[in-house]
Amino acid sequence: MAARVFSGIQPSGEPHLGNYIGAIRNWVADQERYDNYFCIVDEHAITVPYEPAEMRSRVRELAAVLVACGIDPERSVLFVQSHVPEHTELTWLLICNTPMGWLERMTQFKDKAGSRRERVGAGLFTYPVLMAADILLYQTSVVPVGDDQKQHVELSRDIAGRFNNLYGEVFTVPEPVIREVGARVMGLDDPTKKMSKSVEGQHHAIGLLDEPDLIRRRIGRAVTDSLREIRFDEERPGVHNLLTIHHALSGQDRSAIEAHFEGKGYGDLKKEVAEVVVEALAPVRRSYAEITADPETIDGILEEGRERARPAAEATMESVRRAMGLR
Ligand code: TYM
Repeated sequence: MAARVFSGIQPSGEPHLGNYIGAIRNWVADQERYDNYFCIVDEHAITVPYEPAEMRSRVRELAAVLVACGIDPERSVLFVQSHVPEHTELTWLLICNTPMGWLERMTQFKDKAGSRRERVGAGLFTYPVLMAADILLYQTSVVPVGDDQKQHVELSRDIAGRFNNLYGEVFTVPEPVIREVGARVMGLDDPTKKMSKSVEGQHHAIGLLDEPDLIRRRIGRAVTDSLREIRFDEERPGVHNLLTIHHALSGQDRSAIEAHFEGKGYGDLKKEVAEVVVEALAPVRRSYAEITADPETIDGILEEGRERARPAAEATMESVRRAMGLR
C-alpha cells in the first residue's frame, strides 16, 4: 500500500507563492505516489484574532485554490479540519501527554507571541499539539512541509514516541519531508523575513490568484541590493530569493540561470522572474475560475473529503481511547 501523506494549510490570509513553492506544488507532484490527506486547518486559524463572518468563505476559496493548483479530489482526500471532530478530541488527550518544556521551545510561538506572551490565547501555545493530532490521527508516515514547519513536525514525532512508550504502540511516527529548493521563500519587501500570510503590505507577497500586472509590479518593487552580480549568494537575500523563485518554477539549473543573467542588470532579472511567475500561475487562475463557476462543486468536494477522512480518524481514536483507559 502507498505510504500515507498528511499536510495542512491555514485559511488565514491569501495563499501565496511561498505556500505554493514550499508545499502545494510538492503535494501535487507526489500525489500519485502516495495515499494523501490534505487538510484546510480552520481550527489553527482561530488561534489569532480573525473575522468569523469571513471564515467559511476563506475555507472554500482555499479549497478551490488547492484544486486549481492540481490537488485531485478523486486521488487525494481534501477536507476541512473542523468537519472531523476527532482532531480536537485527540488534541486534548495529547496535550495531557506533552511536557510544557517541549512547547516552550517552539520558535514559532516565540515569534508570534513576542512581547504579548501573557495576553495571547492559550491556543497559540498549544497550536503544535493540534498539528500533531492532525498528523497522528491518520497514521501518517510522510509530512511534506516548508522549512518553517519542521520543528512542529519533529515535535509530532516526539509526541508519538512518548505516547507509544506510555500506552503501547498506537501511532505511526511521521517524518517531515522538506524539499531543498524553495523551502523558505522570502518576503519581497524584506528578504530577511519569510513570505507570510500574516504580514500586511502591498509588496510583501505574491498571491496565487494575483493578476499578471500585479505580479509584475510586485516583483518590480522587490528589495534587492546595491551590487550588480546576479548569483545564488545567500549573503544577498533579495537577489537570492528572486533567483530561487525562478529556479523552483522554471526548473532550470542554477548554473544555467546564472549564465543566462551574466552581464544583465536587476531590471532584467525582475522582468524575467515576473514572467516565470506569471506563466506558472496562469493555469491556477484559469482553473480557479472554472471551479468556482459553480459554487456547489467545492462544497461537494469538501463533503466527500469529510466522509473519507472520518473513518480513518475514528479508527485511530478508538485505539487511543482503549490504550488510555477511556470509555
Ligand atoms: P501554513 O498555512 O502557514 O503554510 C502552509 C504550507 O506552506 C509552507 N510555507 C512556506 N514554504 C516556503 N516558503 C514560505 N515563505 C512559506 N510559508 C508557508 C508551510 O511550511 C506549510 O507547509 N501549521 C501549518 C499547517 C498545519 C499542518 C498540519 C502542516 C496544520 N496541521 C499538519 C502539516 C501537517 C501552517 O500554519 O502552515
